[in-house]
Amino acid sequence: MYYLSKSDLLHIGINWEEMIEKIKETVYTLKDGDFAQPIKPYLRYRDVTNRIIAMPAFVGGKVSFSGIKWIASFPDNIRRNIPRANSVTILNDADTGVPACIINTSHVSAVRTAAVTGLVVKEYLQRNRQEKLTVGIIGFGPIGQQHLDMISTLLGSRLHQVNIYDLKQPDRSLIPAALQEKVNIVDTWEEAFEQADILMTCTVSKKPYINKVPKKGSLQLNISLRDYVPEFINYANHIVVDDWEEVCRENTDIEVMHKTKGLTKSGTLSLVDIICGDKLQNAAEEVVMFNPMGMAVFDIATAAYFYEKAKAAGVGTVLAD
Ligand SMILES: NC(=O)c1ccc[n+]([C@@H]2O[C@H](COP(=O)([O-])OP(=O)(O)OC[C@H]3O[C@@H](n4cnc5c(N)ncnc54)[C@H](O)[C@@H]3O)[C@@H](O)[C@H]2O)c1
Repeated sequence: MYYLSKSDLLHIGINWEEMIEKIKETVYTLKDGDFAQPIKPYLRYRDVTNRIIAMPAFVGGKVSFSGIKWIASFPDNIRRNIPRANSVTILNDADTGVPACIINTSHVSAVRTAAVTGLVVKEYLQRNRQEKLTVGIIGFGPIGQQHLDMISTLLGSRLHQVNIYDLKQPDRSLIPAALQEKVNIVDTWEEAFEQADILMTCTVSKKPYINKVPKKGSLQLNISLRDYVPEFINYANHIVVDDWEEVCRENTDIEVMHKTKGLTKSGTLSLVDIICGDKLQNAAEEVVMFNPMGMAVFDIATAAYFYEKAKAAGVGTVLAD
């Protein structure tokens, strides 16, 4: 059995185009019904702001692996200089169930999250022909940082400016040298939000605060899921979710919109609808809001991708049975 550490994964590096293609391939396995993914249980005890989530899945198609991610979120960790989120993923051979690889996935988890966002951004770029695009990022922890890396790669020369807001003044050294001139650290969430063609929430906010009209034609990427007031439903022409049954719980903005504004599954689009269908084709002037709960199938596909890369590069440790 293989073991891949964080340094093994950093050695392999990130190829965003390949990662996003892997996520796209996985969306097609969802469309084909060639997957299994039970609703993920949340383990909570003592301080219920903490949680450990079990995320099992099988992904068919070219991925053909099953496995589980076991991911802990302890928000106060960052005060002790420990990352909020920590996880391991076990990959099992799809035919025999034999564990093939254990991966320290704290870094991979953030990469998978940004790659799912990246797939939606690519869809947006197909219908938005604006030459220059402004990006807003609210919350600049590991998830915000991976999103900056992904979006700057995807947009390339079309990236005009990035406005980042965090409750704690972000450390400028976390911003790559090549982006320093394009990145502004701003003092309010409104400054990140108002000009944004593409807005990403990457906070750990417990209550919503985004209560303004978004820029026309903007893409609102609600990664942290608890940032938009329910009235935002009036500004979003299309609400996209990764999985309605998953995301409509745990006090997400979608659940609150469901309970207070009557949003139902049929009032939303899924990733399959927008990636495998053309449900957003005529949405150039419209506001699209994406709400991903995080799907285990993407974790397994991402883990399998890094496992194959590691074997090809001779990276990783082989553990005795
Ligand atoms: N949807 C998904 O698939 C998915 C996957 C992974 C993580 N996430 C979510 O992404 C979020 C960020 O993860 P992380 O690991 O970077 O967390 P983190 O705690 O390490 O960092 C969060 C950052 O946001 C800042 N922040 C908190 N509240 C804020 C607010 N109201 N306004 C501005 N900044 C604020 C904090 O100061 C911190 O720098 C979490 O909510 C996590 O649950 C979602």
